[in-house]
Amino acid sequence: MTFSKTHNTASSPALEVVVMAAGKGTRMKSRLPKVLHKLAGRPLAAHVIDTATRLGAQRIVVVTGHGAEEVEQRLSALAPQAPLRFVRQSPQLGTGHAVQQAAPLLDDAATVLVLSGDVPLIGHDALRALIQASQFRQAGAHGQLALLTIALDVPTGYGRIVRTEDQNNAGDQNAAVRAIVEEKDASPAQRAIREVYTGVMAVPAGRLKPWLARLDNNNAQGEYYLTDIVRMAVDDGVPVVAHRIDDALQVAGVNDPVQLAQLERQWQLRQAQALMAQGVRLADPARFDLRGTLTCEADVEIDVNCIFEGAVSLGAGVRIGANCVIAHARIEAGARIDPFTHIDGEKAGVIVGPDACIGPFARLRPGAQLGPGVHVGNFVEIKNSILGPGAKANHLAYLGDASVGARVNYGAGSITANYDGANKHRTVIGDDVHIGSNCVLIAPVTIGAGGTVGGGSTLSKSTASGALTVARARQVSVVNWQRPKKKNPGKE
Ligand code: UD1
Ligand code: CA
Repeated sequence: MTFSKTHNTASSPALEVVVMAAGKGTRMKSRLPKVLHKLAGRPLAAHVIDTATRLGAQRIVVVTGHGAEEVEQRLSALAPQAPLRFVRQSPQLGTGHAVQQAAPLLDDAATVLVLSGDVPLIGHDALRALIQASQFRQAGAHGQLALLTIALDVPTGYGRIVRTEDQNNAGDQNAAVRAIVEEKDASPAQRAIREVYTGVMAVPAGRLKPWLARLDNNNAQGEYYLTDIVRMAVDDGVPVVAHRIDDALQVAGVNDPVQLAQLERQWQLRQAQALMAQGVRLADPARFDLRGTLTCEADVEIDVNCIFEGAVSLGAGVRIGANCVIAHARIEAGARIDPFTHIDGEKAGVIVGPDACIGPFARLRPGAQLGPGVHVGNFVEIKNSILGPGAKANHLAYLGDASVGARVNYGAGSITANYDGANKHRTVIGDDVHIGSNCVLIAPVTIGAGGTVGGGSTLSKSTASGALTVARARQVSVVNWQRPKKKNPGKE
């Protein structure tokens, strides 16, 4: 069946989303509520909320139960833009009972989309099509019940889509849907049906509410099954349509750590493939992790075991060595990040300028802004500092709260002492300055342009442009120095 767009355009009903997230997730064997376990760095339920938000939901009602407070607080914090509402379900008497808790909040004229908090990768396009199916109007009938289904080789555990009373025809995609039968209530013949309910449905609220009120728990599990509304729809003469998809990843649920890890790997592989399709060269798509968004220009190369978090962008020709962790950062064209480098911009972000060379073993922290051609070498930490074009800090150094001019050479072992125990202070290093090894620059302090600071200096006063400054004890040598000798050799 196809759904012409002319049936619902400007006058489409509003969308209300119900996310069921009250279950305990016993098989996770964790004190953390299941829907807060992370996939690609984000709680399972947050993925679902992101998708619902992108669909333009006017309200997203999350049904919470186990760990309700923690779930509500975490999800509100992670999705501040989402139109979230929470309702509590206690005790948890089944999926029908869960949606009953949300019903009073749902606008009668809206379309209701039911999602599960533990099915994180449900796709926007499949849901759009499902919603459109439910909004389809036939002569006299205002909308219909639309079920998202999939055919599985091993349907164990899922509710089966029963298409006719005649079991011989069950599974025929053209036959009318009659019911969903839960695994535990199914006859052997029904268990053989491979088409299953994914746990996702769209339905007009005005239809849903009276059906919810009629649910009972006369079944093998003694639960109020949401899926029983299918039979009610059939009885009421409301059309039931199955929107069938092929992509099992989108409807995969998480019940235990094994499934969570499998879903993570499949999702990561899919993200890797999408990047490679854009031309990104991944040394091994099986050893790549994206926990956020990665945008890449042409000819980016990424070696094995790299993790990208938050929003990261890589300019043309950027090369990332093995075992790097890069979060909240912009790496500009031609820059090279050598192995084992850790970059985390958190809120302030990190910018690595064009053709810069970073690492191996470098650490860039929030507010590091490195200009073109900067070199940052091993065991160098940079926080909240601006480095001008061509500046170099190649070994074992710390730059915090500093402005470093162009072409500065910052010696091995040198540090900015930016924190006096109460406040942070800035260090300003002018263009073309040479800081020797093992210097301590006690902020606030300014090193004038073109100046030189002798190795081992501890500076607490600013220096003039072009000056050589040495601030350490003067070297003293005593020629022919005789070391003391023992008075009574032989005695202890
Ligand atoms: C449900 C469907 C089944 C479908 C399967 C797809 C029912 C009766 N069955 O079965 O047809 O094939 O999903 O995965 O709906 N939840 C609550 N409160 C409750 C019970 C569950 O919020 O009282 C939440 C759970 O946290 C979970 C979701 O609802 O996020 C689904 O519940 P679950 O118990 O996993 O349903 P299934 O038995 O898998
Ligand atoms: Ca389930």
